[in-house]
Amino acid sequence: MLHNTKTQQLRAEIEHLKQKRQAVILAHYYQLPEIQDIADYVGDSLELARKAASTEAKVIVFCGVHFMAESAAILSPDKIVLLPDAGAGCPMADMVTPEALRAKKRTMPGAVVVTYVNSSAEVKAESDICCTSANVVKVIQAIPPDQEILFIPDRNLGDYAATQTGRKLVSWAGYCYVHDQLSPADVRQAKARYPKAKVLVHPECNPAVIAMADYVSSTSGILRFAKESVATEFLIGTEGGILHQLSKQNPTKKFYIIHEKLACKDMQATTLLKLKECLTIMQPQITVPPDIRKRALNSLERMLE
Ligand code: 13P
Ligand code: SF4
Repeated sequence: MLHNTKTQQLRAEIEHLKQKRQAVILAHYYQLPEIQDIADYVGDSLELARKAASTEAKVIVFCGVHFMAESAAILSPDKIVLLPDAGAGCPMADMVTPEALRAKKRTMPGAVVVTYVNSSAEVKAESDICCTSANVVKVIQAIPPDQEILFIPDRNLGDYAATQTGRKLVSWAGYCYVHDQLSPADVRQAKARYPKAKVLVHPECNPAVIAMADYVSSTSGILRFAKESVATEFLIGTEGGILHQLSKQNPTKKFYIIHEKLACKDMQATTLLKLKECLTIMQPQITVPPDIRKRALNSLERMLE
């Protein structure tokens, strides 16, 4: 009861500060339920990037991880972009540095560099085109067939895109520790418990897990599939935060996480208290130096086109 009153009070304070700052709150589907519920928009990486590019608000509060807030700052340089927890990063994005990418590019002159949005602004600035898991297949298909492709940083997403398009890609060796750790044995055990459930997984999972799935897609694709499917039980192979949105949108269907280890500590770092604090002190702000921003914008805009 005390807890509920405190939460309600926090929510009211955030609403008040949001009006005062003329802010919009964007949240990824992996955020904690209370963050998703207070957000103005909840979406996948692509939807949130589009929202950040088109919003009329003066301040964007990005409830997600660093690269997402950075993309918002690249797409909307005249806005203040806040990230409630300055330490919320993406370990996969850190698996490629601009120096290492420049060195690799020297060994593949003429290759098109396709970069997953889960990357730093400096890495985007060294790239030709960005993609998210929602549009990776389209982006690869748009590249002339005779052109070599360097895909960074997620090897699993690279493998998935290669299978879907029939294209040969040179993939960076990065991976998401949350998705990559899911094993075929985990899927088998979950299926034994819920034999009628459809298995829906994210393409950041490893190829052996992907091969066992009924459907593979970005977070927005998983939500769409669950809504449209006649099935009533689903096993979910992506970060557990998405279960809140799945259950909210489909109250009569049942969703089970394949394994509890599907939890991203960076995504779960945002709390209502941190959200209130960042709107109070207008910190931490995420900015990108103009020269890097300009080059990173090219690859992000090419993707959004
Ligand atoms: P999507 O929401 O684009 O599917 O991304 C998943 C992810 O891991 C973001 O960090
Ligand atoms: Fe990065 Fe994986 Fe967390 Fe997404 S779920 S933010 S890819 S570590």
